[in-house]
Amino acid sequence: MGLQMRKVIKNIKQLVTPVNKKYAVKDDAKKLDIYENVNLIIENGIIVDITTKEAEANEVIDATGKVVLPAFVDPHTHIPFIGSREDEFNKRIMGKTYMEIAAEGGGINSTVRSVRNATFDELYEAAKKDLELMISFGVATVEMKSGYGLDLENEIKQLKVIRKLQEEYHVDIKSTFLGAHEIPLEYRGKKEEYIDLVINKMLPTVKEKGLAEYVDIFCEKGVFEIDDTKKILTAAKDLGFKVKIHADEIYPLGGSELCAEFEAVSGEHLVKIKDEHIEKMIDAGCVFNLLPATTFFLMSKEYAPARKILDRGGIVALSTDLNPGSSYTHSIQMVMVIACLNMGMTMEEVINAVTINGAHSLELSDKTGSIHRGKQADLVILDAPDYRYLVYNFGVNRIEKVIKKGEIIFQK
Ligand code: NIG
Ligand code: FE
Repeated sequence: MGLQMRKVIKNIKQLVTPVNKKYAVKDDAKKLDIYENVNLIIENGIIVDITTKEAEANEVIDATGKVVLPAFVDPHTHIPFIGSREDEFNKRIMGKTYMEIAAEGGGINSTVRSVRNATFDELYEAAKKDLELMISFGVATVEMKSGYGLDLENEIKQLKVIRKLQEEYHVDIKSTFLGAHEIPLEYRGKKEEYIDLVINKMLPTVKEKGLAEYVDIFCEKGVFEIDDTKKILTAAKDLGFKVKIHADEIYPLGGSELCAEFEAVSGEHLVKIKDEHIEKMIDAGCVFNLLPATTFFLMSKEYAPARKILDRGGIVALSTDLNPGSSYTHSIQMVMVIACLNMGMTMEEVINAVTINGAHSLELSDKTGSIHRGKQADLVILDAPDYRYLVYNFGVNRIEKVIKKGEIIFQK
């Protein structure tokens, strides 16, 4: 291999990685492997060695006194969207609940109005900004969803924005169809008709155009309930989609059980998950994708039972849930802080959750999420002396560089 393809990150004070497995659970989730004073060698965007020996290369990045970790993975965002809802946020601060605002036609439907009114280019520009902000906090692999179009044309518009981001950005982006995110206002009182539209028109079109790999659904009391969820996910699986579910977020409806039944890649939120459903999801190999920034932003005191899930051996990932209503943050680091301080996760569990387990949740853990030979050089360099600064020095972004497949995609 030519020398011109070779890069070295030199003099790394602390190189931190999850274990070399598809995901980290139990004792593996509690630990990280740490190498001190090493050089990391990259060829053609791939990690080839971690060594204490001098290494030649044409490009050298100096990491003296700094920390290198795998770049973070955010497996649940609601990009692309447009418009903001700070007025609703203010109402929530004054005591209105998220579901009350939704019932009045605000909430998701308010963003639906903005997305429907936006041109493709406007939506793309907004999504691009959101993605770049996320990258600046250390993310280099991300999931995005539709769900703010809620009609064929606008769901497709959102998915095409995701496709364009996949083409234009040097990051891994996975695409999810979330047509069953809410019942659009024009279908209020006619939920069955909307479900027919999702099943008979939207799902086949999305499949035919190859615009999404996964289908997600907001399984919630007063939105899509258990039978609706079964219907939609059965149709999705028949078409060959893999599925995930926003389950048991606000009311314990039992969506978590459906995660196991439908062999979902992941269950999302899971705040009110029942004990017996934790076991079922573990047996089915589902990832528990927890979104504590949403709980925090909704000003609830009740978080997903992360400790219970971890202690029983569940695969825990963490995400921002980035959206303009229930979790308006681009910072996966904020999520890490909340997970430690409000869900009792250790710093090591949190880092495993936002690296290898996030990657596994997007079925990418063979390529990214840890620092091992043969994997993509997807890395962050922290301007800090210890990886624990990520949580300890809360609210401060110490990311100095984000590297994807060996290329610098963000630099302070
Ligand atoms: O994951 N709960 C449903 N969907 C989003 C919120 C979307 C919105 O409020 O715009 C969530 O929290
Ligand atoms: Fe969500």
